[in-house]
Amino acid sequence: MTGLATGDDGALGFPEGFTWGASTAAYQIEGAVVEDGRGPSVWDTFSHTPGKVRGGDTGDIACDSYHRYREDVALLASLGLTSYRFSLSWPRIQPGGRGPVNQRGLDYYRALLDELAAHGIAAVVTIYHWDLPQELQDEGGWAVRGTAERFAEYAALAAGALGDRVARWITLNEPQVVSTNGYRNGDHAPGLRDAGAASAATHHLLLGHGLAVRALRDAGAAEVGITLDMHPVRVLGGPVAEGGSGALEQGRLIIDAAANGLYLEPVLHGRYPEHAPATLLPPAALIADGDLEMISAPLDFLGVNYYSPIFLRAGDPADLRRNEQPARCQVPGVVEYQPEELERTPMGWLVDPSGLHQVLVDVSRQAPGLPLYVTENGCAAEDYVNPDGEVNDVERIRYLHTHLEAAARAIKDGANLAGYFVWSLLDNFEWGWGYQKRFGIVFVDFGTQRRIPKASAAFYANVVRANAIPLLPASWPL
Ligand code: FCB
Repeated sequence: MTGLATGDDGALGFPEGFTWGASTAAYQIEGAVVEDGRGPSVWDTFSHTPGKVRGGDTGDIACDSYHRYREDVALLASLGLTSYRFSLSWPRIQPGGRGPVNQRGLDYYRALLDELAAHGIAAVVTIYHWDLPQELQDEGGWAVRGTAERFAEYAALAAGALGDRVARWITLNEPQVVSTNGYRNGDHAPGLRDAGAASAATHHLLLGHGLAVRALRDAGAAEVGITLDMHPVRVLGGPVAEGGSGALEQGRLIIDAAANGLYLEPVLHGRYPEHAPATLLPPAALIADGDLEMISAPLDFLGVNYYSPIFLRAGDPADLRRNEQPARCQVPGVVEYQPEELERTPMGWLVDPSGLHQVLVDVSRQAPGLPLYVTENGCAAEDYVNPDGEVNDVERIRYLHTHLEAAARAIKDGANLAGYFVWSLLDNFEWGWGYQKRFGIVFVDFGTQRRIPKASAAFYANVVRANAIPLLPASWPL
């Protein structure tokens, strides 16, 4: 830690009033999928389709948080967290995605919000974290415009019923992943492999966001934002083939537009990015007059999810070297690359805290004055309960430590960062990976539903208490 303003004990501090939280999502933790009138979502259908989710896992029971929310709120409180980001299950509130509310679904969220309020924990509510009501999917899902309109109606119902207890609303979680993984690659629900549907979904997700912002404001919502997954595109130095530096910059611009700009630019600036590949851009015929104004309505904050960057270097896609793969920009002379010296998590994701610093500083430059929250950051690890009954997740402590340090440095370098939410409070249903990948700071024994706070939970609680990152002891094992 060089060149950083530190406290007397060497700890790196955060601004006063900084928000500290943890994130979860409805389908990943709630279970109770057929209780109290909940309808099926695309993730129920997908996870029950053989071969789609590793090990045939489903969210049928998950962390059973639908019944154990009191225990989970107590966990948040015991860690000293001031904020909890969770999502609403649309098919719990509107089982078929339209029409009147299912009161019992709303009652659950009301009880959860009351419990949070009783512990002085602010609620940050994601309205859509990927569990579209199946009936809307049967009509085309996000590939059709009507879904954006249904989404705004649902957002209005949620805000009307729950708004008095919600500090911040997040319209969508990671629309890029919905379009790419759900509609283009098919490794997420609804499992489509349809490029046309994917680019249409991009526009309708963004439109749904814009319409929901208006609906939320009309319902008197406090603060409104969106959460985007951000992937800094980094160009590695080293020998550059002739003319390669131009090619690398061109590749960087294209991939940045595809991975980030396709969502960030419409939301911040009301336009699709100049460098995005034509195949990803929604066709002009789908973009009605006024859509982009609606999509770019001013926000109160932006949520940033950060896990991993994308690296490019000069190379030959027809003659790939170790750790190289063809670049998604398809620019000759450019390949994607996983630097050997960087660790990878069990997801295969590169660990690069400087990517978080880059993203926060860059986005703040693009949106001066807009408060940013890291709404997800964390890692999977090979966690297990040791003979002493403890989970000593040193890899995760190291990951959190280095990423928090990067966040603190970003603030000093001008990023307008107002809070940080670790992904995740609990081990949970990790989408296509099922329960095989554990991201929690609290271990869940899925056989008994017992929760065991990991060593990283104690580490994080110390950070929160001090509003600063303690130095790791010199004897630290990694
Ligand atoms: C993000 C998702 C979240 C979780 C993490 C690991 O893309 O928003 O639900 O699965 O990845």
